[in-house]
Amino acid sequence: MLRTLGIETSCDETAVAVLDRDGRIELNLLSSQVAAHAPFGGVVPELASREHLKALPILVERALGAGSAAPELVAVTAGPGLIGALLVGLRFAAAFAWARSLPLAPVDHLEGHLVSPLLDLGGAPARPEPARSLALVASGGHSSWYLLDAGERRRLGRTRDDAAGESFDKVAQVLGLAYPGGPVLDRLARGGDAEAVPLPRPRIREAPFDFSFSGLKSAAIRWIREHRLAGAGEGSPAVADVAAAFEEAVVDLLLAPLDELAARHRPQLVTAAGGVAANTLLRRRLQDWGATHGVEVLLAAPALTTDNAAMIARAGQLAWRAGGARDPRRLDARAREAWQPPGVARAALPQPV
Ligand code: KG4
Ligand code: ZN
Repeated sequence: MLRTLGIETSCDETAVAVLDRDGRIELNLLSSQVAAHAPFGGVVPELASREHLKALPILVERALGAGSAAPELVAVTAGPGLIGALLVGLRFAAAFAWARSLPLAPVDHLEGHLVSPLLDLGGAPARPEPARSLALVASGGHSSWYLLDAGERRRLGRTRDDAAGESFDKVAQVLGLAYPGGPVLDRLARGGDAEAVPLPRPRIREAPFDFSFSGLKSAAIRWIREHRLAGAGEGSPAVADVAAAFEEAVVDLLLAPLDELAARHRPQLVTAAGGVAANTLLRRRLQDWGATHGVEVLLAAPALTTDNAAMIARAGQLAWRAGGARDPRRLDARAREAWQPPGVARAALPQPV
């Protein structure tokens, strides 16, 4: 493996990290744009690009100043994400790699989330991927179960409409809570009574491994309006009850396919990643499931659940090992999902100048 500088700018976090050759996290820097987007109740793409442009050079300079040695590989998120935001990171990374004659590994953002549970914030090397694992990625943009089988990735189920994090954010917004809503609902849910608010768990009959969160979200919003809780804010106990009930329903839906998937695929490991994997109830329920079924459960460290560059650097290291480094001049960003497992894209590296 190579010492790696990771760069992530796919959404509203500018992130830069340095991993050593064993995948140890030496540095994991983050500049959050939450305050810039908060007045709009969601991420404003153009604003995100501009904020990345400001923060990225500062973070990279700090990373280079703090690092014990120069990077040997640059890894950058190529998609999916906001196209303008991605282009800022991608062009920066390509120019940086080109100027230093370093190989550049374009990384699929989801591949980053998938490897994030194998990273350690306490200074240990990255864990090798087991032969077969089941992985949940639940974030603001994605909610899917994957089978990771000897380096192959297969999506087994996905959301048909909203992502889990998106539905948390929307319900929180209707309740008048701060953005992003997931962490706020998590905190309030600890003091709420989930039984007090009846909410459905809609499933898709012909696709038992897929999710749908929009029916649940609409039912929650209807209940909030009928009980005059729209815009109520944090103070009321009824808001805590909604938080607890909604959280429980989302976690039920996310974990509904797990028994059947585990029976079919017999994983050695079950992992969870993405912003929603920071959720207290989801973590507890997954740990309990692992203890009951005798399967190891590995949850991404809370600080590595949301977007970060350490996971991008690690995915870049694995892609490089599999021959997936690219010519920086030919690199492009893509806004939409287009699965690129590590090592598929092979191209001649530029000769050192
Ligand atoms: O992975 P992430 O940073 O960005 C995407 O790639 O989308 O995930 C952000 C999402 C937001 O929707 C946020 O509300 C949600 O993750 N989230 C949570 C929690 N922490 C973050 N949702 C539920 N409980 C949490 N503790
Ligand atoms: Zn993400």
